[in-house]
Formats: sequence, structure tokens, C-alpha cells
Amino acid sequence: MRKTKTTTPVRFNEDIELEKNLRPLSFEEFVGQKKIVDNLKVFISAALIRKESLDHVLLTGPPGLGKTTLAHIIANELGVKIKITSGPVLEKPGDLAGILTNLEENSVLFIDEIHRLSPVVEEYLYSAMEDFKIDIMIDSGPNARTVQIKLPKYTLIGATTRAGLLTSPLRDRFGINSRLDYYTAEDLHQIVKRSAKILQIEIDDDAAFEIARRSRGTPRIANRLLKRTRDFADVENLNKINLEIAQKALRNLDVDEFGLDDMDKEILRTIVLKYKGGPVGLNTIAVSVNEDPGTIEEVYEPFLIQQGFLKRTPRGRETTELALKVLKINKADLLSGALWDTEKLF
Ligand SMILES: Nc1ncnc2c1ncn2[C@@H]1O[C@H](COP(=O)(O)OP(=O)(O)OP(=O)(O)O)[C@@H](O)[C@H]1O
Ligand SMILES: [Mg+2]
Repeated sequence: MRKTKTTTPVRFNEDIELEKNLRPLSFEEFVGQKKIVDNLKVFISAALIRKESLDHVLLTGPPGLGKTTLAHIIANELGVKIKITSGPVLEKPGDLAGILTNLEENSVLFIDEIHRLSPVVEEYLYSAMEDFKIDIMIDSGPNARTVQIKLPKYTLIGATTRAGLLTSPLRDRFGINSRLDYYTAEDLHQIVKRSAKILQIEIDDDAAFEIARRSRGTPRIANRLLKRTRDFADVENLNKINLEIAQKALRNLDVDEFGLDDMDKEILRTIVLKYKGGPVGLNTIAVSVNEDPGTIEEVYEPFLIQQGFLKRTPRGRETTELALKVLKINKADLLSGALWDTEKLF
């Protein structure tokens, strides 16, 4: 079997810098995801009234939708400190024990990429989450013994793009489970306007909307496109981003009119051209596009399905007529067989 690509989507360094400036710090500034935000507000208020720690929170959903942002906002709204770590960094139980024993009462521990915890660390986390206790091994050899340590009450916030990889004992220990969904163009439009204000760029409404609807439902992408568009405006000496310059920038950046990225299109093209539009199984698609099946299922497919490019049927995945439109493929050509399995088209 071919080696699959990394399962973590690419993050650009400049994104990381940019995100720090643009990250909303309160629910007030956080656009969209209304149901999740409304529920969290209730749970946070209740915890504050009872002067207790908030229940553990699991945030899942595709990259760039605001999981890390929400974790920070929850800590801010609770008025507590946040300690940040991630699954792969916690190599052994001792790493986790060090962090847990140093937490302040009612504070937040954020574990990003929680699906990447090693099984021993994960098991260690169970009692730390449920009973707020951990066992620590003291000494070694014949003198070795374990001591139980009581932990301060705290809130664990776990984030993952790959909810399917979490074991059920871990998932079940989160009292609050929120799945973030793709943003509407209207929400993204608002996000672009907000970011433009922070970056001190003037932007016309229709230009902001153009960026919004081509951002794959994702705030991170919207912010990146805004910044790139600003470069085009600067070079042309414009002090405002208008629709014309936004369209030119997006065209030059090869941003798809429907907001699809390269992998989205590769998946659709593969199903259409190699498997006659499906139905075809997830694993077969994964091998064809050289990506991990779980990543396709949890990171790429939800957007394609939500936007109506792909259908999930009991017999596998099928592309829709809209997919043919995106790929600029004529249905008659497809049905005649003229295009099937033509490697040169890939
Ligand atoms: N609801 C929102 N309103 C405004 N801006 C947002 C919102 N959600 C996300 N953003 C912007 O998008 C950027 C990316 O969000 P964030 O880093 O929280 O995503 P993530 O879900 O943690 O992604 P990953 O899975 O890659 O870690 C943030 O820096 C922020 O600027
Ligand atoms: Mg994150």
C-alpha cells in the first residue's frame, strides 16, 4: 500500500502570527456557531453561579473553524487561566502529571489534537478527569510505590479535527461535546469585515462577500485571503479593497469560485473520472488520492456533502451534477465513456 500523506492539514507560519491578532477574545466578538455559543454561555454562567469548575469540554470539527479560539474564549469568560498543551507533546504519564498538579483551582487545561494522546497517557487521564485524582509512582525497584494525589478541580478542553479517532472511554468523560460546523457566507462576510477593521484595511461590502463565499466555509481561509487581497490592493496603490481587485486577487491566487481546495477537487475528479461518478467506497477513494480515509471522511467530505457536491449512499460515495459543473465536465462526455480513466486529465 502506498504511504499516505500527513493527516494534519498544512498550516502556514504567517497564519499563526495573523491568528494571534485576529482571534476573537470573547463570545461577543465570536461570529456564528450560535447554538454552540448559546449553550456554552449557559454552562459557563451556571458554573460561575455555583462557583464550580465548568464540566470538561470536547470541541471537534474541521481545521480553522475556531476550536482553539473557543478554548481561549471559554477561559476568558470563566475568568480563569488557561494552560495549553497538545496530544503529541504529552509523551508519558509524568508529562501530564506535572501539568495537572500545577493547575490552579477551576482553571482550564487545553489539550489540542487530543486524538494523538498515547494510550498510556490517555488512560492516565481517565481518573484525572473523572475523580480529579492521579496515582504517582515514587521511587523505583523494590521501593517503588504509588501515591494518590488529589488534583485541583479544573476544566479539560480537548480539541480535535478527528473525533472518529477518539476512544469511547475518553469521549464519554466530556460532559460538553460541541461539533463546529462550516460557516455560512454571511457569517464569513462579517468575519472578513471584522478582520479588515483590525488590520486597518478598508473593504467594500461586495468585495468582503466575494472573499467570504470563496473561503471554504472557514474563517482561517477567509482571513488569509483577505490578507493576500490586501497585497494586491497595496501594489496597485488602492486604499480600499473593491470587488474588482478582490476578484483579480482571487483569480491570481487560483482560488476556486466555489471555495474548493485542491484536495476537494482531486477527490471529486477521482470519483467522476475513475469511478464514473460512483458509488465508490471511502477506502478506494483514499488510495486513489493518496490520503488517509479518516481524514477524507472527517476533514474533506463534510464540506463537499454540505455544499451538495457529494452524496453518501449505502453503497458508497457519489458525485452530483454540481460536481460536474465545478470540474467543467460535460455529462454527455462522461456518459459516453470518453473521459473515463484518462490519466492525463489528472
Ligand atoms: N467564529 C469566529 N469569528 C471570528 N473569527 C474566527 C472565528 N472562528 C475562527 N476565527 C478565526 O480563524 C482563525 C482560526 O481559528 P482557530 O485557530 O480557532 O481554528 P481551529 O479550529 O483551532 O483550527 P485547527 O483545527 O487547525 O487547530 C482564528 O485565529 C480566528 O482569527
Ligand atoms: Mg486549533
